[in-house]
Amino acid sequence: MLPSLVLLPAIAGLLPSVSAAALSSNAQKIEDRAITPLACLFFGDIVSPWWLNRCKQHLDMVVIDLRSAEEYAVSHIPGSISAPFEPISAWSQMGPGDLLLELPEYNDLAAFLGSIGVGNSPSTATKIVLVNGVGVPAFPQAAGPRVALTLKFAGLSTGRVAILDGGFPAWTSESLPSTTEVPVPVPKTFISSPDRSFLVDINYVASKINKNRQGIFILDGRDQAVYNGSILEEWAQRPGHIPSAKNLPTQKVWNPDGSFKSTFELLALLRQQIGYGASRSYGEIIVSCGVGGYASGLYWVLTRMLGFDNVKFFDGSAQQWSNEGYPMEL
Ligand SMILES: *[C@@H]1O[C@H](CO)[C@@H](O)[C@H](O)[C@H]1NC(C)=O
Repeated sequence: MLPSLVLLPAIAGLLPSVSAAALSSNAQKIEDRAITPLACLFFGDIVSPWWLNRCKQHLDMVVIDLRSAEEYAVSHIPGSISAPFEPISAWSQMGPGDLLLELPEYNDLAAFLGSIGVGNSPSTATKIVLVNGVGVPAFPQAAGPRVALTLKFAGLSTGRVAILDGGFPAWTSESLPSTTEVPVPVPKTFISSPDRSFLVDINYVASKINKNRQGIFILDGRDQAVYNGSILEEWAQRPGHIPSAKNLPTQKVWNPDGSFKSTFELLALLRQQIGYGASRSYGEIIVSCGVGGYASGLYWVLTRMLGFDNVKFFDGSAQQWSNEGYPMEL
């Protein structure tokens, strides 16, 4: 299948370009849709604003805007669907005393995805591009990787989910068209089953402490002052970190403009924090943070941008660890 798709643009170049129909802009639009440009077949982990602008009409693709409803109302990428981060993450469904930022109910998530036009059936495989905001601290940026993780749990293979590099600010800084028009999604059938293969619970994490010399690392994405216990976040009962955990503050994976650092810089950052003991295939890295937001950023960088296939995710993070009486290290 792929070779013939790849050939299409080349063949198109051989067609006579002098016909009157080809000069009409309508015909041009139809041609644009019929022939997927070569660049659009490369759906990577992060996509640029220019790629998105060029390719969004060519692919079975849903662009999801994770910013607040207010921000979306002011201006958004044409055709993008508003799904503010909090309902997707299930944060807003949490009762008092519950763990924050846990994964949503699978059936709710699958129904939601179908309703916004994400198909997953033998005949459809919609791709998704996530659009986050940018801020300091980097919570808006972390929404992209967190929702990517949620989509992995939903059963979407990782190769179908990308993040717009630099989020919505990158789109506007390139002066690409934006709108206030709200699209009406065409529902599709979403059939899948939950993927829990990368999720680990508190007992699992407890069994993996002090194993750095066996290539098993716990990597904490919180800021250094939180990790070392000089700041106590509101959701944790006790300061410090999981014993033997290493620290790689997730804020450092982004440039100040909210775009991801290069893979070269990201790998250097990882080596600086945990040395050369961490291997892509040998041993394991368990990511953790305060409640599971920044850990999603580490999960994204390690698995999608640096190609690690041995990463596990501890969603309970410091909130569960400190509140259930497990030992904290300073
Ligand atoms: C903890 O981290 C903060 C921020 O980097 C630093 O200023 C402080 O000195 C550190 N404290 C300890 C005890 O290491």
